[in-house]
Amino acid sequence: LHKPAIRIVEVGPRDGLQNEAIHVPTDVKVEFINKLSETGLQTIEVTSFVSPKWVPQMGDNTEVYTKINKKPSVAYPVLVPNVKGLESAVSVGAKEIAVFGSASEGFARKNTNCSAEEALDRIKEIVNKSQILDDTLKIRGYISCVVGCPYDGHIKPEAVTKVCEFLLSLGCYEVSLGDTIGVGTKSTVEPMLKDLLKITTADKLAIHCHDTYGQALVNICTALEHGIKVVDSSVSGLGGCPYAVGATGNVATEDLVYMLHGLGAETGVDLKKLIDAGHYISEKINKPTASSVNKALYKK
Ligand code: HMG
Ligand code: MG
Repeated sequence: LHKPAIRIVEVGPRDGLQNEAIHVPTDVKVEFINKLSETGLQTIEVTSFVSPKWVPQMGDNTEVYTKINKKPSVAYPVLVPNVKGLESAVSVGAKEIAVFGSASEGFARKNTNCSAEEALDRIKEIVNKSQILDDTLKIRGYISCVVGCPYDGHIKPEAVTKVCEFLLSLGCYEVSLGDTIGVGTKSTVEPMLKDLLKITTADKLAIHCHDTYGQALVNICTALEHGIKVVDSSVSGLGGCPYAVGATGNVATEDLVYMLHGLGAETGVDLKKLIDAGHYISEKINKPTASSVNKALYKK
């Protein structure tokens, strides 16, 4: 019997740790990523090449990227906000980058210090430059605030579709739909997806849910019902965004894997190893895990 295969994009080392107030030593990040690499995950977003003035926690990007063990079977994308970030990423040998736009004006201004339109222009510059520096570089796109924005409130589906169309036209192989502040419910996520599916197919989309209101798994199920097969998550439920105050972490990878295996979907992920990786980072940052499955199943 054919089981549906879901690819998980682990964003804990980037989305998870970018918002940590305490300094996380580089060696801990490296050990954490190495543990994640052994779990069977196919994609791990490991760091971001953003301005260290804006996000000091990611200031050790070069060291992290160069020190981790890179398994040939795993992709290690990094997030970049501008050409400067792209150049740094390419210089350390990154094979894949992620660019990020916003469906809302208010969030673009806080997160990238420019208008939403200017943020898209920057992405275009990144893509153009990448073709000169390394035309094999894979580019993934993110759209933030796909159903709600901390500054602008409710976001209309058409605003998301417009940005998605732009990112795909630039050549992003996939666009990840970010519910940055976790406010979405099935009744807001569904119309957003339906509008997108008028201009593209589900295999070009991924879902990226923060779990602030405990709706992430339901919203992910809604995305699965619409044919989406790529889901972003963060082990231990780490994370948040420095420019979305009050937003908590992404859906916990352990909870996601438990749900997907329960649904009979294949992830290729070893849940026990994942739980150990989640436990490792939670201990190191001295925070209880936000994963229910980790709490239930962790054994010393
Ligand atoms: P700016 O201050 O307008 O830019 O920031 P600037 O060009 O004037 O540069 C300011 C300083 O930063 C300069 O240094 C630059 O050299 C330096 P100075 O001359 O003052 O010494 N700089 C850099 N340094 C290293 N790497 C770079 C870089 N760029 C500039 N790439 C900028 C504009 C976009 C750079 C800034 O706003 C920024 O870095 N923003 C990123 C914020 C961020 O990382 N947010 C979190 C990630 S997005 C997210 O979490 C959402 C997502 O998960 C999906 C979802 O949940 O919705 C993806
Ligand atoms: Mg995020």
